[in-house]
Amino acid sequence: MPLAGHWFAENGLWTTFATILAVLRIDHAKDSNGDRIDVKPEYTTGLAIHPEPFHCSFEVVNTTREAHIRAMMNSK
Ligand SMILES: *[C@@H]1O[C@H](CO)[C@@H](O)[C@H](O)[C@H]1NC(C)=O
Repeated sequence: MPLAGHWFAENGLWTTFATILAVLRIDHAKDSNGDRIDVKPEYTTGLAIHPEPFHCSFEVVNTTREAHIRAMMNSK
């Protein structure tokens, strides 16, 4: 049933984002002086428009949750 598959896909995506936000702080990348690198929003052109790659940083905010997620990923 395509609808159920669609729901599971979206639910999986939601879970993934919720998990990422519970464990990681996503912030500006820093240059070699420690100054933050501003993001210039740039997009591709064409039929499917998506953002160009940009620099950012990921910082673990909760090592307990990180350990849980790593254990979960290794058990699959
Ligand atoms: C980290 O996550 C654990 C498990 O969810 C939670 O019990 C704990 O309070 C969290 N620590 C911080 C600093 O948020």
